[in-house]
Amino acid sequence: MTTQIDDLIAAMTLDEKASLTAGATLWYVASIPRLGIPALKVSDGPSGVRGDSMIGRRSLSLPCGTAIGSTWNPELVSRLGDVLAAEAAAKSVNVLLGPTVCIIRTPLAGRTFESYSEDPLLTALLAVAYIQGVQRGGVACCIKHFACNDQEYERMTISAQVDERTLHEIHLVPFEAAVSEASVWALMTAYNKVNGTYCGEQPDLIGRVLRDRWGFDGLVMSDWFGTHSTAPAVQAGLDLEMPGPSAWLGPSLAAAVRAGEVEEAVVDGQVRHLLTLMDRVGILGGAAVQGASPDVVGVGRGAERETNDTWSRQVAREVATEGTVLLVNRQLLPVDPATVRTIAVIGPNAGALAMGGGSSEVTPYRRRRVADALAERFPAAEVVYEEGCRITKHLPTLDLRLLDGEAYQVEYFDNAERAGDPVITEQAYNGRMAWVGLPHSSLTEGGSHSVRVSGRFTPDVSGTWRLGLESAGAAELRIDGELVIDNSRPERGTGFYGAGSTLVETDYPFEAGTASEISIEVWPRKSGWPILGARLAAGRPEVANSFERAVAAAAAADLAVVVVGLNSEWESEGFDRHDLRLPGEQDRLVEAVIAANDRTVVVVNAGSPVDLPWAEQAGAVLMCWYPGEEGADGLADIVVGAAEPGGRLPVTFPYTVGDGATGESARAYPGTDGEVVYEEGVMVGYRHFNTLGIEPRFCFGYGLSYGDFHHGDVHTTSRGIAMEVTNVAARRGTLVLQVYLRAVEPEVVRPDRELIGFRKVVLDPEQTETVEIELDASSFRYWHVDGHAWRTDPGQYQLLIGASSQDIWATADINVGVD
Ligand code: BGC
Repeated sequence: MTTQIDDLIAAMTLDEKASLTAGATLWYVASIPRLGIPALKVSDGPSGVRGDSMIGRRSLSLPCGTAIGSTWNPELVSRLGDVLAAEAAAKSVNVLLGPTVCIIRTPLAGRTFESYSEDPLLTALLAVAYIQGVQRGGVACCIKHFACNDQEYERMTISAQVDERTLHEIHLVPFEAAVSEASVWALMTAYNKVNGTYCGEQPDLIGRVLRDRWGFDGLVMSDWFGTHSTAPAVQAGLDLEMPGPSAWLGPSLAAAVRAGEVEEAVVDGQVRHLLTLMDRVGILGGAAVQGASPDVVGVGRGAERETNDTWSRQVAREVATEGTVLLVNRQLLPVDPATVRTIAVIGPNAGALAMGGGSSEVTPYRRRRVADALAERFPAAEVVYEEGCRITKHLPTLDLRLLDGEAYQVEYFDNAERAGDPVITEQAYNGRMAWVGLPHSSLTEGGSHSVRVSGRFTPDVSGTWRLGLESAGAAELRIDGELVIDNSRPERGTGFYGAGSTLVETDYPFEAGTASEISIEVWPRKSGWPILGARLAAGRPEVANSFERAVAAAAAADLAVVVVGLNSEWESEGFDRHDLRLPGEQDRLVEAVIAANDRTVVVVNAGSPVDLPWAEQAGAVLMCWYPGEEGADGLADIVVGAAEPGGRLPVTFPYTVGDGATGESARAYPGTDGEVVYEEGVMVGYRHFNTLGIEPRFCFGYGLSYGDFHHGDVHTTSRGIAMEVTNVAARRGTLVLQVYLRAVEPEVVRPDRELIGFRKVVLDPEQTETVEIELDASSFRYWHVDGHAWRTDPGQYQLLIGASSQDIWATADINVGVD
């Protein structure tokens, strides 16, 4: 294939080569039909594969990063990779934009939920498994964001000031493993700077570390709109600017070559990386694409499918349950359905479990109510639902479950007046719809267009609803033919990538159960406007005494399940949180429900650590993270004991943010004067808590099981350590045996303990197993600054073996000799 790639490069003009160094559109790279080079298609990720639709083509919504981190199960995550490869194939996607492997420094960072853990080893092993799973399906992973994209505050400009040891020993570890152990095919540079230089123009990080030291031969692409220069970027090693049309590479790169600023050989190298990637995903080597225009030859254009198969759902549910952490259990869980006649399901997140916001979001096949999932598992019980309180920051998008078919019909017109018959009709499963460029490929390029979105809406509550219409372009909302919101002269707002209007609101009376026809028409305000968009918001009327009703329902029930947390309005790409508190009245609600019913299970649906001031009083607390669309059923499985809560915390839950690694220092987080200084060095997460002796609320590696384990002595073997464990409970149980390293007299400052190995086992009642954990010389290593390399010092070490970073069952002394 190298010859074919060389031949292709030799056959290309400079302009053709340059065209392959930038996206053509949001999700496609340019094609060269005369040479049979199709358009590579990329897609977010990582919690599913969205495809290129911006109106909601459905795909399986999968557990978020911290949920995956909580599984501590590389074998399962590798099967999740198989699912993702199948999802990508269904959407004709060649490159999945994930996994996100930045190390969690602070729980406040907006994308904490996308990352796996505060520990580099755990993150690395899961990332390797994820990548191996996806790539064996012929789909590339694009690992991101390289490097230190650890917060959203000033993410496009801030410089992470980080020393060499911290960078290599903590933050680069997952990337290094992805290259050396999983041969990842693509990598995305981060928005931010590291030590003063943008990540997309770092000769040191991309050139010396990634390419030379690790031997990466894949493609380096920028984050979206994260390229800042032409010559410096490509000379540092950036291959591809995303998205298109290009701002810095593409034609500007060809011009830079002609001006003598960049050697053509550099561009050849970039194209070689792209063609190698295309070869790896099996799209190179086709015949020349006859008669196709360069920007239309998308491999998957028009060929996206919805799969929704049982096998994928099963894996998704397994990850959801294996990622759920049982934090507290005062002999409440699991619950025998025979003992329960009424269940009160309470809380703002019980209506539909939330996901985090931003590019990782996909449109799910179904939005399951926790009450419905529980009702299936408790067939004899009466299940009542009370919201209790609300945590919406803004008027929420209309709940599509209230539309016939849970979807809008979208009609596309080849005129601006919505006149005559539509050219084509499709369905939208997302309440926020956007159309960039030509709204639909069946429309006539260059003409005028418009869109009508309609649906039959049956409200579930009577009263005055608050409606809001936000659009890109002019828009009108009609209900049963009557004009209700006129946004034909929109005022500039912030949505739809800055092209959107303000939200125009009005009140409207609806009666529960009586259907109305909703119609939203959207058309461009000026010709050539490249984006149209519409979002109908609909806030249900306030329920009188909602809080009191919830508490009363809890008091009257045999079992209360209260589901609290965050959602995409509180936790998202684009901004950080301000504190650990659950927003709104949620803490007060949980406290009142616990006081009303001591059989209360609190479910926390958030992507990162939150404050849980009532945890000690609750009957049980389950941390389910953002578990994806199988999450509600996974939760019900756990409540009745059909599944184990298999998760262990991949991140410390502190009492206060100040207790954590970044402390109270504004320089360490969120940064000052454009810099965020990694003052904690290698003392991230539990390394910090244990070294300084600070007590967290729940420690790293912690999680309860329905099983109960007894253990024997620890033995060192030729390959590592071994320990006999027995499940002495009457139920199946999960154990994640963990090994931490303590250097007894280190030559440099080292953390009190560092995770160096783990194994997850599931044992039946009375089952005994000898759990072996392999260790090798690299388990003892640290990054040596003088040698600029990993190093293992000879000397005394202690191994700490246990069920969490603090629940240590046994220790073993090890003497590492001189080689
Ligand atoms: C995010 C990336 C994402 C890209 C494309 C960016 O805003 O940082 O993670 O892959 O958008 O959606």
